[in-house]
Amino acid sequence: MVTRTMIVGGTGQIGSELAHELRRRFGKDSVLVLGHSRRPSEGLMDSGPYETADIRDRERLLELVVRYDIQEIYHLAAVLSGVGEKDPQFAWDININGLINVLEVARERAIKVFWPSSIAVFGNNCPHVDTPQDTVLQPTTMYGVTKVAGELLCEYYHRRYGVDVRSVRYPGIISAETLPGGGTTDYAVAIFYEAVRRNQYTCFVNKDTVLPMMYMPDCINAAIDIMAAPSDSLSTRLGYNLNGISFSTAELAELVRKRSPGFAIRYEPDFRQTIADSWPDSMDDYRATEDWGWKVEWGLDRMADDMFAKLRRRLAAGTL
Ligand code: SER
Repeated sequence: MVTRTMIVGGTGQIGSELAHELRRRFGKDSVLVLGHSRRPSEGLMDSGPYETADIRDRERLLELVVRYDIQEIYHLAAVLSGVGEKDPQFAWDININGLINVLEVARERAIKVFWPSSIAVFGNNCPHVDTPQDTVLQPTTMYGVTKVAGELLCEYYHRRYGVDVRSVRYPGIISAETLPGGGTTDYAVAIFYEAVRRNQYTCFVNKDTVLPMMYMPDCINAAIDIMAAPSDSLSTRLGYNLNGISFSTAELAELVRKRSPGFAIRYEPDFRQTIADSWPDSMDDYRATEDWGWKVEWGLDRMADDMFAKLRRRLAAGTL
């Protein structure tokens, strides 16, 4: 039987690449991409079913779930940390009311759900190196507040209603296909784009900023793998810590310069510096490894080589 999967936020940074991977693995008609206003790439539109919806509209969500006989939802629609600080009420509305709608529909139709949490659940008053799975969660951003509340909602819906919802705390995600939509970790993506386009970049956090990051193939594998894990192997329905690769901005700039001689970087920290400073340098992710076999595959150099190869190809093809 074909698994009928829906990706909410399917035109975003993670959703667009997850859609391609799930369609490649399970067949193009098995994955419905749900977008909002962002126009999907032609590849996404042509490679399988596509619909639009506002995630706050539960009726519309239910209608699509019934029409396509959806059995799994990857719910990736969110307002990220930078944009969220400009309009906190909007971030709450999309992130929390959107999640409740997905969980309600999942409860009604016995649907399995993947929902990503984030390093943003952590704040200043917990260990910043090897941050434990269970520690104080006092985020300083509205995005972080919605991720903590979202994790608790997932856990609640699982305990109270038996909804099979699974979650991970992603670090910053680096990728070359779709740009992230306004987060604090975006500099680690933008630096590659700007190196390829102009060989220079003005960075909005300082050179000593260290955050955990992850390359897109690992991010996609984590989502698919946790969804495939036996339900009783999961010891938490809160988000699992996922560590990736940690580096400072100066180290990242050096990595870029090696592949793009003459690359120039300037540092002009803005409000996102304070956000970055409140997040971990690295996370302890032993629980994810123990429970469902999580393992990071992409290191720093391999990731940088691949980013440059992909972005240079896109530049040559005129799609950058
Ligand atoms: N990438 C996100 C952000 O920067 C963190 O999960 O907002």
